[in-house]
Amino acid sequence: MFVSHLQCTLCGKTYAPDSLKYVCPDHGDPSTGSGQDSGILDVVYDYAAIHRATSPEKISASRENSIWRYWDLLPLRNRDVVPTLQVGWTPLYRANFLGAQLGLNHLFVKDDGRNPTASYKDRPSAVTVAKARELGERVITTASSGNAGAALAGMAASAHLAAVIFVPESAPQAKITQLLIYGARVLLVRGTYDQASDLCLAASKEFGWYCRNTSYNPYTTEGKKTGALEICEQLTSPLHLSPNRRGDGGEVWTAPDRIFVSVGDGNIIGGIWKGLRDLYALGWIDKMPRLMGIQAEGSAACYDAWRAGTDEITPIDAHTIADSIDVGYPRDGRRAVRAVRATNGEFITVSDEEILDAMRELARGEAVFAEPAASAAYAGLLKAVRAQKIDRDETIVALITGNGLKDVKSAMRAADEAMVIEPTLDAVKGIFDF
Ligand SMILES: Cc1ncc(COP(=O)(O)O)c(C=O)c1O
Ligand SMILES: [Zn+2]
Repeated sequence: MFVSHLQCTLCGKTYAPDSLKYVCPDHGDPSTGSGQDSGILDVVYDYAAIHRATSPEKISASRENSIWRYWDLLPLRNRDVVPTLQVGWTPLYRANFLGAQLGLNHLFVKDDGRNPTASYKDRPSAVTVAKARELGERVITTASSGNAGAALAGMAASAHLAAVIFVPESAPQAKITQLLIYGARVLLVRGTYDQASDLCLAASKEFGWYCRNTSYNPYTTEGKKTGALEICEQLTSPLHLSPNRRGDGGEVWTAPDRIFVSVGDGNIIGGIWKGLRDLYALGWIDKMPRLMGIQAEGSAACYDAWRAGTDEITPIDAHTIADSIDVGYPRDGRRAVRAVRATNGEFITVSDEEILDAMRELARGEAVFAEPAASAAYAGLLKAVRAQKIDRDETIVALITGNGLKDVKSAMRAADEAMVIEPTLDAVKGIFDF
């Protein structure tokens, strides 16, 4: 393992690897009030040692088609602890059809709905379950708007670890079903995701369970960064763009110009930023992409802070069809705003209607079926194109974070109604014009 230390994102204090399980102890009790004022820990690596151990060429030659191809950039000591499910290495499609429609020459769609439990959250859940096993934990818990819980339940089943999941009672049925079928202990909380989150934290303290909560457990970000590593590696394949060379002759992967990411708690976009920072520090990419944070209009606390020129998040009463980003108090909001600001990106908000329109366009244009929170990223891209914010030669990636079957009820609102007919050939005649 090449972790050199853990570093508090609030005060900068450093700690030896594995000397703390969760947050910096210097900032009060994160179970009271918002998670974002807890001192979340960044995992910092010894980049010189990573350089000696591996290289882009070595990783690209790997046959490990999962996040574990980046083993030397991950915070684990022991390969025996990883869940068996295959997580990550999801397809990055060149979206020629939609690109042509939008006037973009290099548009890509990364389909993370292709993960084992059908969302991006398999990445952080795989890393935290592995960490829990490495630490000898017996029970792992999380609060979730649905996907993180489903992912944790799946990864825990895969690693034979007990899981307790706190989700709002209002979570879509498919996500609750996933939790139950994997055998997790499911607690449906009569309240919001924010309340479920506080309760999960309190329970983990009371009962000594290992807590995977976003912005509390430092390793979720490490799982979430793997999407960024994949994007840059996959863009460099012969199918896409050819590699540049470093001064020492080594390969440089291709960073896109912009990545569009849906933002709820802000942990995914913070993770993507971390992955890019790792690659940049290693010299494996030669520029930082602009991170485009997309929020639903009714759930835009990060956008508000970004517009106001601060990274202090003011809680709101959130409401959007995109349940996975329906977050009033983004737990990792501060880092999300920093990620966007530091990369010279932007926050964009989209309406529920725009989210549903984008879902339909993405499914028809490139056959990628996104749940509402995931299609928000594409809706943000459409809005940015309409506002002429993007040059046609930029390399653009839309990160699709969850599969549409997770929330069929919302998808039905985006789709057309099917026609009901008599079982006769006559009934089919004259319906279509081809
Ligand atoms: C499908 C999907 N997209 C986007 C997000 C937003 O991620 P974050 O809450 O880390 O900002 C989530 C989080 O639950 C999600 O499930
Ligand atoms: Zn601190």
